[in-house]
Amino acid sequence: MFKRVLVLFAVLAVSACGGVDPDSPLGKRKVIFKEMLSLSEDLGGMLRGRIAFDEQAFAEKARRLDEISRQPWQHFEEEVKDKQSSARDDVWKERERFMQLAAELEDTTERLVQSASQQPLNPDALGVRVDVVEKACESCHQAFRIY
Ligand code: HEC
Repeated sequence: MFKRVLVLFAVLAVSACGGVDPDSPLGKRKVIFKEMLSLSEDLGGMLRGRIAFDEQAFAEKARRLDEISRQPWQHFEEEVKDKQSSARDDVWKERERFMQLAAELEDTTERLVQSASQQPLNPDALGVRVDVVEKACESCHQAFRIY
């Protein structure tokens, strides 16, 4: 009986994330990508006036984005692609190109952090930085993600 309850809990936990096992490589990278999206939306939102601009929050979110932008790539190591993945097979076939685009994103977030650590912050300069971060996300998605 106890065992059955445990199984039920496990099934519920999996279905809460759209059927993706949170401990699988796909589950792990999805969590990171979602946080990256939310951070980059907040950074862009602060510069475009959608949410209030706050120097401290901006700098903190930029730092966090830079930190986690280094983390998804290690979770693309599975040998057989997860059926629920929206990654193109090229992620595994063209590993070098994929890692090059990952490194390009890391460069853009690093520059963003540099600009965000020089107070008073200059929203125009930060706007250019955030633009190139967003472009780095897009260029990898165009090449390696299935929409
Ligand atoms: C080097 C390539 C690469 C870069 C750079 C990249 N992504 Fe992705 N992203 C992917 C791939 C591949 C997937 C599909 C993952 C899968 O389903 O296995 C993905 C998926 C996603 C998803 C969907 C996650 C889900 O729940 O299915 C989001 C959101 C996302 N990326 C946000 C971002 C943001 C924001 C950036 C930039 C800050 C970014 N990505 C940069 C390759 C990249």
